[in-house]
Amino acid sequence: MTIDPPKKKTKVIAVVNQKGGVGKTTTAINLAASLALEGVPTLLIDCDPQANSTSGLGVQREEAKLSVYDLMLGAATAREAVLPTGVEGLSIVPGTRNMIGANVELVNADRRESRLRDALAPDRNGTWGFIILDCPPALDLLTLNALVAADTLLVPMQAEYFALEGVSELLSTLDRVAAAYNPRLALEGVLLTMFDDRTNLSQQVRANLMEFFGDKVFKTTVPRNIRLAEAPSHGKPVALYDPRSRGAEAYLDLAQEILDRNPEIKPVTPSASRKKLVVDEIPLPRSIQQLADEEESKGSGMWPFRRKKS
Ligand SMILES: Nc1ncnc2c1ncn2[C@@H]1O[C@H](COP(=O)(O)OP(=O)(O)O)[C@@H](O)[C@H]1O
Ligand SMILES: [Mg+2]
Repeated sequence: MTIDPPKKKTKVIAVVNQKGGVGKTTTAINLAASLALEGVPTLLIDCDPQANSTSGLGVQREEAKLSVYDLMLGAATAREAVLPTGVEGLSIVPGTRNMIGANVELVNADRRESRLRDALAPDRNGTWGFIILDCPPALDLLTLNALVAADTLLVPMQAEYFALEGVSELLSTLDRVAAAYNPRLALEGVLLTMFDDRTNLSQQVRANLMEFFGDKVFKTTVPRNIRLAEAPSHGKPVALYDPRSRGAEAYLDLAQEILDRNPEIKPVTPSASRKKLVVDEIPLPRSIQQLADEEESKGSGMWPFRRKKS
């Protein structure tokens, strides 16, 4: 007899990619804000010492009494450290530069990779539908904590040729983390950012990723849009800074796509209605499959992030 584990009421999604500048923070801010605007109470946790998602939402680092640092030290729970943002339904646990030290301070600490998971445990009761973790551009102790705390991973990738080179390395790292600390960790999806659908390269990158990840590639792509780059300096998500921009529309579409994939998480307030983005089917070339085959022939074992070959 098998008993299904109860569906978690709060889903924790880590936005992760070891490369910088691929759109992690932009995605964390705007996805979290869009989920909140769709009516699902959402918490954003800024795990990056650069604290760009904190400042990007107009939260002054100095005004925060508690931060992720206190969560990592076991000195506070998420609920104690949250601050409100200018977006209804969106709260934040701010980041701080002190976290650079956390990597060092926790080296010999007990359960050092589970600090964030432990701090979130009391708050996974549905108060927030989603907890979004913005990760630093490194596979360090802070990212490890995010990977251990997360249910799923959202991997933003820039639609450029070099994006594909990092895929194999990233996935084998995630795989090892999952095996050691968090066996139920799954892939929420791969998001193409700074996407220009008029170029062959973008189309090619997308097609290759689809070959590799199947329907784990989000239908939504995020276009290169200047409004997305401007919004943080106004301390707002793009949906409030310029709701009619293509960037705002893309992140609302992404939020809707994630809600469709997670029907157990329900909005508590009515959501805005918007037009849906339609993506054409694209024929699939081969090259990424070769990468996968190489990895498999190296005997790296089970690869839960990859689509099974039929
Ligand atoms: N879709 C986009 N269109 C235009 N600029 C973008 C887009 N996504 C991100 N940017 C800009 O690119 C830079 C890097 O993005 P960021 O989200 O900070 O990446 P990461 O957190 O992965 O380092 C930032 O200046 C950001 O404003
Ligand atoms: Mg960032």
